[in-house]
Amino acid sequence: MNTLYFCLQEAVEHMHEIPTKVIRVDPFHPEVAIIKHAAELIQKGQLVVFPTETVYGLGADALQPQAIERIFTAKGRPFSDPLIVHIANRSILQTLVGDVPLAAHKLVDAFWPGPLTLILPAGPSVPRLITAGLPTVAIRMPRHPIALALIRAAGSPIAAPSANRFMHVSPTTAHHVLADLNGQVPLILDGGPCEVGVESTVLDLCSDRATILRPGGVSLEALRIVLPEIQPPQPRPITNHTSSKDELPQVSPGQMLIHYSPAVPTFLFEGKIESMREAMLAEVQHRRAQGEQVGVLVANEDIIAFQGSGAQIYALGNTIEQIAMRLFTGLRELEEAGVHVILCRSFEAQGLGLAIRDRLCKAAGGKIVQAE
Ligand code: TXA
Ligand code: MG
Repeated sequence: MNTLYFCLQEAVEHMHEIPTKVIRVDPFHPEVAIIKHAAELIQKGQLVVFPTETVYGLGADALQPQAIERIFTAKGRPFSDPLIVHIANRSILQTLVGDVPLAAHKLVDAFWPGPLTLILPAGPSVPRLITAGLPTVAIRMPRHPIALALIRAAGSPIAAPSANRFMHVSPTTAHHVLADLNGQVPLILDGGPCEVGVESTVLDLCSDRATILRPGGVSLEALRIVLPEIQPPQPRPITNHTSSKDELPQVSPGQMLIHYSPAVPTFLFEGKIESMREAMLAEVQHRRAQGEQVGVLVANEDIIAFQGSGAQIYALGNTIEQIAMRLFTGLRELEEAGVHVILCRSFEAQGLGLAIRDRLCKAAGGKIVQAE
């Protein structure tokens, strides 16, 4: 009888699970038949995970509210956090946005397709579920050939957040997606690792001064060449995310400090390079002495300093582009390796470095160590 009870319980728990198929797709020349199959799922209101140049997206038809609802359920994401609408053709902008300001046209000319999301006034055709009831909508045109082909074949804009469980690190490979969403989505298009590795820059064009809400794949410096008045991200309140379906959208969505976190406690070290390494090494030794497994997330130039320390080293690369590309993989690999704690070094907050610093601060959830 007990066995039967447990079997039934298991059946109920897995009732909502669906088999997840992963299909490998050529990232440069996506196979037409595969894209057609994925587009048909989107048209039927199903979810499809697809690669973009930044991170993998969990996509649904942006004009079908029931499909959008599935995104929130699959991710475990509160309805108060609005979604980005992905388009493949600039003319669609007019159908989604009330009034496209001149600044938007200039930025679109310079950065689309690419990792820039614009916050614009929402037109009446945009479902409320996408905007979380806000009067604005986030729109971006990705440059990944698979993303563009899918949006075109679906014949509709595609709403897509990053394809991770809510609050976890964004996925930059199909393996990361599967680790978080296996059983929640029917199809993952595997286009290999994402080239940029951090999410798009979210730029608010609806407030008095154009302001970056989330630093990302397009740098502040590059944006300012086109629009010099753009403001850097403003300091965030330290809050956790606890909203539910019934709550109002937050004033500044996506600005929670705790976000993108690995499941393992993470500390960010700041300071001059030598002092940073010394402080990290001291922490490694202290924790090793207590029997803890320690992961360190560093640049290639730091490897030698940590060799023989007993820490599990994940080296991100040499250039800022390599570091951005491997950042989320590094956090996930150390987490999967079963370390008790992750210690990260910081990087200069310039260019892509601003987005890297932002993600590391979020991963650390405010646990920042100033190395003297
Ligand atoms: O690179 C990316 O942007 C990826 C790929 C898949 O395109 N997408 C992504 O989506 O990172 P998501 O949902 O994980 O992050 C979107 C961010 C959130 O912080 C959300 O709060 C913010 O954009 N956002 C969306 N609509 C907004 C709005 N109307 N006003 C302010 N922020 C908004
Ligand atoms: Mg996300």
